[in-house]
Amino acid sequence: MSLETLTEAKMSHHDLLKDQVAIVTGSGRGIGLAIAKKLAGAGATAIITDISQEAADSGAKEISGMNLKSHAFVCNVTDPQSIEKMTEDVISKFGKIDILVNNAGITRDTLIMRMKVEDWNAVIETNLSSVFKVTQSVVKHMSKANYGRIVNIASVIGMHGNFGQANYAAAKAGVIALSKTIAKEYASKGITANAIAPGFIDTAMTQKLKPEIKDKYLEFIPLKRFGQPEDVAEAAYYFCTGGSYVTGQVIVVDGGMFM
Ligand SMILES: NC(=O)c1ccc[n+]([C@@H]2O[C@H](COP(=O)([O-])OP(=O)(O)OC[C@H]3O[C@@H](n4cnc5c(N)ncnc54)[C@H](O)[C@@H]3O)[C@@H](O)[C@H]2O)c1
Repeated sequence: MSLETLTEAKMSHHDLLKDQVAIVTGSGRGIGLAIAKKLAGAGATAIITDISQEAADSGAKEISGMNLKSHAFVCNVTDPQSIEKMTEDVISKFGKIDILVNNAGITRDTLIMRMKVEDWNAVIETNLSSVFKVTQSVVKHMSKANYGRIVNIASVIGMHGNFGQANYAAAKAGVIALSKTIAKEYASKGITANAIAPGFIDTAMTQKLKPEIKDKYLEFIPLKRFGQPEDVAEAAYYFCTGGSYVTGQVIVVDGGMFM
């Protein structure tokens, strides 16, 4: 490849999401931040939203430090008022929303026997009801524009269940079914909705697991490494840049753990 074609290829890659506005929830760090970086790298303005201003600011700062476009807004995904304010703020500043990545999530792991109803509710609210609420708030703007890409971060646990994760597994299974329903209801509006089911990804969420549990997981991962947030970002990037004939699908990013 000549230098000119190489530069051209590089430029077009950087321009694939030029002028697009991409909201990523819970993107102050971890998988959300990696997705936001990837989308910003393709020219989008990454809207970094997180539960606190500090968390959102720190993610947005990293992206602007890379000479890419980003903006921080607070959005607590469990709070309808906070969601509506974020959506309205983004619309009044940027005029549209092309991409929504529902990424914010928590764990409250314990066996069913010991799980308090608060642990159940917190995970269902943060990981599942939030996807409904944020999508409902944002999708009306996508509908008007007859374009949208919605990517929901589910989990392989939502397909297979797991010891100590009744709340999380149920929420993530719900995210998959919700994604398919969004896909059906909004296909006629030029909006696709897909889910990503990551396996074991090395972030704050998994760093708190005991070393012996991590070793156990590694035994079952054919690719013999934990995933990085960037591995998940690749799948999100696919749904947002290509994949225009792909909707209601789940991409598993788990190093082969559950094939
Ligand atoms: N790490 C993994 O192995 C793994 C595997 C499968 C799926 N996931 C999913 O990926 C997503 C991101 O997880 P991560 O591993 O990057 O974890 P993380 O803990 O590093 O990041 C989660 C982010 O969500 C934010 N958040 C939490 N509650 C929020 C709320 N109410 N409102 C707004 N933001 C909130 C946190 O502040 C944090 O920035 C989650 O949905 C998680 O369930 C992670």
